[in-house]
Amino acid sequence: MSLNASNTGPQLPDGILLEGIVTTLNGDGSPHVAPMGPIVDLAFTRLRLRPYQTSTTYQNLKRMRQGVLHVTDDVEMIARAAVGRLPEPRLILAQAVEGFILADACRWHAFQVDSLDDRNERTEIVATIVDSGRQRDFFGFNRAKHAVIEAAILATRLEWLDADHIRAEFERLTVMVEKTGSRQEHSAFAFLQEFVRERAAGTKSAEATGR
Ligand SMILES: Cc1cc2nc3c(=O)[nH]c(=O)nc-3n(C[C@H](O)[C@H](O)[C@H](O)COP(=O)(O)O)c2cc1C
Repeated sequence: MSLNASNTGPQLPDGILLEGIVTTLNGDGSPHVAPMGPIVDLAFTRLRLRPYQTSTTYQNLKRMRQGVLHVTDDVEMIARAAVGRLPEPRLILAQAVEGFILADACRWHAFQVDSLDDRNERTEIVATIVDSGRQRDFFGFNRAKHAVIEAAILATRLEWLDADHIRAEFERLTVMVEKTGSRQEHSAFAFLQEFVRERAAGTKSAEATGR
């Protein structure tokens, strides 16, 4: 199959970008959980990850060459994991790879890395799925879930994005959360708003003290 290794984004003939969560093993054997958006083929046999080289997921995949991709509708888990503030999740030991499965995800796909290309800022990692499991149905969409995912991505890019842009985007996304969100989306969005506020205040106080 042609899970094209070039950096062309999701416009692959047989690949679709999936916003999921990847678990990997840290050097001390503890689990690491991070949202990642790999391109996956429709049959879920292979995937192409593009982690930034600054990410722990990249370091772990380079060392261990295996991990587990999860499909979930739990946007609070995605939001908290994106900024490294996920309370300890329920985990199941994976069998086909050394690693952990998130017990509350809808589906999981354990993978082994076939190739890792470090030439770009975002490493290209092509992997084969070696085991999969289904734990529960995917709930479905609402605009608030989508809004939380957008907000989580913004929260991981605070260093690069302009503060006014972030504020305007959060305002736009608030409307979707208020109109269509359930308790989970409200809670996840409030968490991200607070995180962004904290970071902005931290940046301002560092500027004021000249640090
Ligand atoms: C939905 C979603 C998709 C993401 N996809 C990627 C990705 O493909 N590559 C990447 O490097 N970071 C991605 N991120 C950002 C990382 O999850 C975030 O920067 C994380 O803190 C870095 O990973 P680490 O915990 O392994 O260091 C994504 C975040 C979200 C919310």
